[in-house]
Amino acid sequence: MPSTQTQIAGFSFDNCLMNAAGVHCMTIAELDEVKGSAAGTFVTKTATLEARAGNPEPRYQDVPLGSINSMGLPNQGLDYYLDYLLDLQEKEPNRTFFLSLVGMSPEDTHTILHKVEESGFKGLTELNLSCPNVPGKPQIAYDFETTERILTEVFAYFKKPLGIKLPPYFDIVHFDQAAAIFNQFPLRFVNCINSIGNGLYIEDETVVIRPKNGFGGIGGQYVKPTALANVHAFYQRLKPEIQIIGTGGVLTGRDAFEHILCGASMVQVGTTLHKEGVAAFERITKELEEIMVAKGYQNLDDFRGKLGYIG
Ligand code: DHB
Repeated sequence: MPSTQTQIAGFSFDNCLMNAAGVHCMTIAELDEVKGSAAGTFVTKTATLEARAGNPEPRYQDVPLGSINSMGLPNQGLDYYLDYLLDLQEKEPNRTFFLSLVGMSPEDTHTILHKVEESGFKGLTELNLSCPNVPGKPQIAYDFETTERILTEVFAYFKKPLGIKLPPYFDIVHFDQAAAIFNQFPLRFVNCINSIGNGLYIEDETVVIRPKNGFGGIGGQYVKPTALANVHAFYQRLKPEIQIIGTGGVLTGRDAFEHILCGASMVQVGTTLHKEGVAAFERITKELEEIMVAKGYQNLDDFRGKLGYIG
């Protein structure tokens, strides 16, 4: 049997599949379910300093080719997730988990990251620079000046392994500019991609989610080509110490295979996990293993980043 084992920032994971932040990770019950599934690890719902109720419902809708959401950062607040992770560290010291975070302001982000730095947390931290759903707040990662400033400030005091969640970029010059910024910092990973922001889905004559008159982040089959392009663009441009987590449009083992071929070291499942539940991890893993057997690959290193070009 081939191995789908992987490593991020020197930590080992038995499987390269995990949830995408926002899906099946709001409560301890959901996190425990992912933990007990075939997933290699989990990431928590992006936490803010204080708990938030988020936007009014309906705020997430599965649709035939994917999903649309404008959740508005509902979460239980940093302490809920951090306390759970600290407890888990005692009970399962051999496993590593991801904590996702963002402040409602740069000051908040620093308060949160200082708390994590000063805590006993030994896992991986993901700073979310790409939430598209809070009315009046632009995505940080589309503002390169602010992104560079925040990362400069963060790395002055944050010494634990840190990565960032990115929105999709759509222009080669933006890939170049973003990579030039990220390469200045001791980031351990970038996670590509968050949802494609502010799409609109209509049924009959009406939108399907309430917030922002129906505008919301798009996930699922719609986004795979954009996700693969972002994974590969950053794989080509980033220094080797910055690993890539691939997220977007993973329905099957073939989709996970393509993310790894583009350079991903870990692959996250969002919309499909929402539609299918945690059984998706076992199914997708089996499908990935079957592809690896058919191609004679024993582990992910045999094909990671080895995307073929024409000519
Ligand atoms: C939310 C959506 C995102 O895509 C994200 O990165 C963080 C939060 C949300 O609406 O809750």
